[in-house]
Amino acid sequence: MNLNGLPIGERPSAKASGLEGVVVADTRLSHVDGERGELLIAGRRAEELAFDEPGHFETVAERLLELASTEPQPRLHEYLAQARASAFARVPQLVQALSLPDAMDSLLAATAQGSAGSDALSVLGALPVYVAAHARLRAGQAPIAPDTAHLAARDFMSMLGLPESPARARALDAYWVTVSDHGLNASTFAARVVASTGSDVMPCIVAGLGALKGPLHGGAPGPVLDMLDATTYTDPRDWLEREISAGRRIMGMGHRIYRVRDPRALVFERALVRLAREDGENSAVAARLEHARRVEQAALALLCERHPERPLCANVEFYTALLLEAVGIPRQLFTATFAIGRCAGWLAHIAEQRHTGRLIRPAARYVGPMLSPTGAAVER
Ligand code: COA
Repeated sequence: MNLNGLPIGERPSAKASGLEGVVVADTRLSHVDGERGELLIAGRRAEELAFDEPGHFETVAERLLELASTEPQPRLHEYLAQARASAFARVPQLVQALSLPDAMDSLLAATAQGSAGSDALSVLGALPVYVAAHARLRAGQAPIAPDTAHLAARDFMSMLGLPESPARARALDAYWVTVSDHGLNASTFAARVVASTGSDVMPCIVAGLGALKGPLHGGAPGPVLDMLDATTYTDPRDWLEREISAGRRIMGMGHRIYRVRDPRALVFERALVRLAREDGENSAVAARLEHARRVEQAALALLCERHPERPLCANVEFYTALLLEAVGIPRQLFTATFAIGRCAGWLAHIAEQRHTGRLIRPAARYVGPMLSPTGAAVER
């Protein structure tokens, strides 16, 4: 028996270990309705917000920060452009961190090293610079300087060396707006826990980045593209069945909160349709989208058979993969590109958490043994 009188080795229930349904914060930033498939960001429905106007990411980030703070916030269009320029000036000192093979490791190291001591908000400008510099350095090319006249999405694409395309910059902007915040997801929770200890902003962002790296959270879109590649010339059902039989999960499917299709998948699908239309006939985007829809339907049917009690539908990552691919972002940068958008939400949640002044400190149920000084198990 352990201290709680449970048989030694008994594990806490799955519910207790995943914190589902446990409310640990009040927030004004976003609302996720998993039953109805609705997402509100800064009070607006994500589907409407994403297609408002170009350059909207800066506006949405500004709005989130205003909601979280009682103090006036800077105009982010100019502020972030300036922050990108300052971050680029630090790139020569960060070459080692930015040259790590994995983009998220690089981003974690560069943020911890390069942004410590800087103005808290400036990290939102620094992340795209670090991601682009990482990509260029890994490709053996010189990093490209940001242009303070550009908005974040266009500037990120130009720093990556991608051809100029207003349609693709608009799609990336819609992507960042849509992923800017999403309730108390794992990375936001991680950032809030660190914020609740009274730590600086940068360690909170590093905590968020660390959580986002995991394949169950932000690391799925790369594997989604691998799945689309693997099923291009075969029946998706066979491939999906083999994955499930091997004990692997289908990436881009299932969600902790949503019991219906993730509303963000619809936003990205619409953005892809718009890109395909602009590309005209024989659009590679249109062909890929059609294939993705086939794979999604096959995965949905299979998961429905395997888990009739639990709806497992497409999540944000499924169409993220397609959208970022269509924009021209290399797949190894997908999670890091997600981090740039989500950083807006992290910063707002960090501010919101600080206002509460309350340490987040849940409890664990002890299921280990009680031992005597000789190491023998003691009954309580
Ligand atoms: N493929 C296959 N099976 C899945 C699945 C998936 N994508 N998602 C969940 N399941 C299965 C689980 O294996 C579990 O089966 P079991 O009861 O036989 O063990 C059951 O469905 C319930 O899953 P559970 O682990 O309780 O769900 P969760 O709320 O913890 O999972 C995710 C949410 C997102 C972690 C999960 O759906 C997943 O791993 N998806 C794939 C990764 C992904 O796309 N991540 C991005 C999330 S935005």
